Formats: sequence, C-alpha cells, structure tokens
Amino acid sequence: MFELKSLIDITDLTPEEIDELIATAEDIIENPDKYREKCKYKKLATLFFEPSTRTRLSFEAAMLELGGSVIGFSESNSSSASKGESVSDTVKVVSCYADIIAMRHPKEGAPMIASMRSDVPVINAGDGGHNHPTQTLADLLTIKREKGHFDNLTIGFCGDLKFGRTVHSLINAMVRYKNVKFVFISPQELKIPDYIKTEVLDANSIQYCETSSLEHYMSELDILYMTRVQRERFFNEADYVRLKDSYVLTNEKLQSAKEDMCVLHPLPRVNEISVDVDDNPRACYFKQVKNGKYIREALILKMLGIE
Ligand code: NCD
Repeated sequence: MFELKSLIDITDLTPEEIDELIATAEDIIENPDKYREKCKYKKLATLFFEPSTRTRLSFEAAMLELGGSVIGFSESNSSSASKGESVSDTVKVVSCYADIIAMRHPKEGAPMIASMRSDVPVINAGDGGHNHPTQTLADLLTIKREKGHFDNLTIGFCGDLKFGRTVHSLINAMVRYKNVKFVFISPQELKIPDYIKTEVLDANSIQYCETSSLEHYMSELDILYMTRVQRERFFNEADYVRLKDSYVLTNEKLQSAKEDMCVLHPLPRVNEISVDVDDNPRACYFKQVKNGKYIREALILKMLGIE
C-alpha cells in the first residue's frame, strides 16, 4: 500500500507505485470476484466541469464494480458553479459527502487547488491542456499488456501535441524508463510545447525528433499514439477547420509498420483513424478503454487504503 493523498500529475506516482497499480489491475482482470465488495459503503464523487464520456463512465463503472456508489455531476451548469460558487468551495462541500473525488476542469491547475482544500483524495481527471494522469495509467497498463515492458520503446505521438493533455502526461511517465525515444508528428502549429522540451525531454536527455510526416518514421515505431485535434482549446474556429484533418491513419499507411506495433488513442476519435483500422491487429484503442476501467479500480483501492 502507498500513501498518496491526491493524484494530480502522473509523477505524483513513482514507477514502483505504477508497477503496483498495474499488478493490482491485472489481478482484478484475473479475479474480478475477489474485488466485488471491496468498496462497499464507499462513495466516489465525479465532478466534471467539462464534458466527458469515457473518463467519467470509466470512473463510475470502476467504483460500481468494487461495490461502491457514485454521486456527482457531468457538466458545470448542473452544479453550483453556475451560481458562481468557487471550485474550492464546491470541493470542500463535496468532501463532506464522498470518500474520494474525481474531478475534470477546463482550467489548468483547478484539480490541484481542489486537492488543497479537500478533506478526501482528489484525482485529476483532466485539467485543460495540461495533464490527464489516469488516462496515462490506462495507456501504461495497455503498453505493459501488449509489449510486456516500458524500456527500449520508440513511441510516435501524432496530432495535437500542443493541447493534448494525454500526450503531455504520457511523456512525463515514459521519460522515467530506459532508452525510450519519441517521434513527434504534428503540423507546425500543434507542436509539443517548449516547456515540455526543455523541462522534461532535455532535462532527462531524451532522444526525440519532430516531423510533419505520419509515414516517415512509421517503420521504426513500437507504439503510435494518435490524438484528435482539440477543438475546444482553439481560439479561432478557422484554425481548427484548417488543421483538423491533418492526419488520417489508414491500413495503407500502416503497411510499413512493424507487425507488432500498437496503435493507441485516448478517444474520442473524430477522423484521425479510419474505421477500417479497427480490425487491424495493431489497433489497441478499445483494449485501452477496458484497461482504463481496471486501472481506475486499482487506483481507487490504493487511494482509499483498501488492500
Ligand atoms: C482525452 C481527454 O479528455 O483529454 N479523452 C479521454 O479522457 N479519454 C482525449 C481527448 O479528449 O481528445
């Protein structure tokens, strides 16, 4: 068991703690019955100030599978935020009702502020274009199950690398493993932010390259992490329209890829992976969805201190 009051950034967890979560998730997959009542009488609050299908339902399904209950809201206009209540106050109040909180917010840093005010653990379920640590845990469980290890991988990230919080979090997690290389595939306007290059990549002496071509490095990749262009983070609709179809992965483009390359995507997909790729053995994005539920079960157990 580890002590973690809140999970705001993936680096709040050590690699050893991540291994522990993965081991628990794999045990849940093998022996679901053992876990069915572990969270009996416990309540999870899902506070979603920004729309979500997967992450919110994944947290809810996870808590229900553990025998717990769920309270919360799925959009800010159905909460007191619409009356002008601060995030801090909402969280302080909800922490009087729930044992653990999962919170998504369009403002970077809001879950961190919430965790400082809350009396119960807060899990960041996505804050603006910043971080998304539980998606990263789902990604890591999928990589572990598909590849067996985290070292010696070349990972291509494609799409909106500027605003894609899942990309930022996964980079932060992967730089802690040995001999990991990155290929960043994006249009000029959606390149990986400079602070990630200096504070994360250069600071850890990570090898990476940037390209605008999806095909150029395809044959070298062990993992291709596709992302959608994040419409809601653009200031200008015309820029979104111009960039939204920059990349569309098809079976044809995958022809030069390694047989065992994994295609991941945090979903929702808009147009960036053609549906015929779904039947390609390399497509792992729906497995990733399932893994997200199991790893969230493991996380809830650990954060509530339940063995
Ligand atoms: C991602 C998110 O919300 O950042 N989705 C998710 O949580 N599964 C990716 C996205 O919205 O594009």
